[in-house]
Amino acid sequence: MKILAIETSCDDTCVALIEAVGKKQVKLNILSNVVSSQNEIHQKWGGIYPLLAKREHQRNLPLVLRKALKQGDKQGLSRIDAIAVTVGPGLEPCLWTGVNFAKGLAHNWNLPIIPINHIEAHIAANLVSVNYKSQIAQPRLAVEARQTNYKNLFPAICLVVSGGHTQLILMRDFGKYKILGETRDDAAGECFDKTARILGLGYPGGPAIAATAAKFSIHNFQFSIKLPRPMIYQKNYDFSFSGLKTAVLYKAQSTKRKALSEKFIQAMCQEIQQAIIDVLLYKTLRAAKDYNVQTIILGGGVIANKELQKQFKKKIKKEIPNSKLCIPAPNMRADNAVMIGITGYFLWLKKEIKIWKNIKAKANLRI
Ligand code: KG4
Ligand code: ZN
Repeated sequence: MKILAIETSCDDTCVALIEAVGKKQVKLNILSNVVSSQNEIHQKWGGIYPLLAKREHQRNLPLVLRKALKQGDKQGLSRIDAIAVTVGPGLEPCLWTGVNFAKGLAHNWNLPIIPINHIEAHIAANLVSVNYKSQIAQPRLAVEARQTNYKNLFPAICLVVSGGHTQLILMRDFGKYKILGETRDDAAGECFDKTARILGLGYPGGPAIAATAAKFSIHNFQFSIKLPRPMIYQKNYDFSFSGLKTAVLYKAQSTKRKALSEKFIQAMCQEIQQAIIDVLLYKTLRAAKDYNVQTIILGGGVIANKELQKQFKKKIKKEIPNSKLCIPAPNMRADNAVMIGITGYFLWLKKEIKIWKNIKAKANLRI
């Protein structure tokens, strides 16, 4: 079946067309995957303004749709079987833009709609692996199921870390989740974004901090900066990152008079990144051991962090060598509509489809 997928929960306008076949052995083709990033627009403000993002989605959606259809649907619209759209969680005005757009298409083309949870989609992005032989630039990108039977992945612990969310989720099967813990204030990505802003680095802050941290060398050791690892040893699976942000603000302010030298900023970025990785890694590992899981599944934009991936791989290999680590393919870490389409297919198999009139955006949707 062919699914047209739409994602507008945050600041990326995404449309993809995927084709999926099979039940136990799911084979997927990505026919098109178009992402229109609003980074440049939000860069000046150092963060996302929901109404500005909504206006951009409204402007971009028809263009992104046209491009996705042109790239991926050589056989014509009649062959699309369903529309999958993110209904939450996310920024309410942005979600409604995508939802209303999808409803309009479903109404006009007489297609069923599959409502998608954005967090579940970040997890589902792991249930497939990309076949790189057919290169990302090609319109037709083959994707195969990571395992012949994905069920041997469970139980799993999923760490979903993005600009809006930080959650540890116990997954017993596709559709069976229990949130073990989550952030009590800022999300990990938000902490990257806000601390980058304090240091005068660009938006989004995660890649900017990672790139600056990579320049840190032992010669900068004159700046021995120690930041807190909030809640790391508390006996729960919750997180808190606002204290880390405040600590960075105080350190930056107290150093201001001497001017924030390049080396100081490099040392600071290295420590911010390490503090966030330490907390995420420690809590994820503890949950994995407590629940004796088969797999650790990572999802969300922060997973793009190379140092985080490296440290997760190393620690899991050392401490729980029998567990698998799943990291989504590079083009499926940040927000995209392919993951929405994949989730749509799994839900289609479970017959969780709706008619367009019943679809609503829910900013605080829980998994
Ligand atoms: O999942 P995502 O694309 O959008 C949301 O649903 O929020 O995640 C975006 C977040 C941003 O906060 C961004 O700073 C962060 O992911 N991010 C990173 C990296 N690349 C993106 N954080 C750390 N290191 C990175 N390399
Ligand atoms: Zn996301």
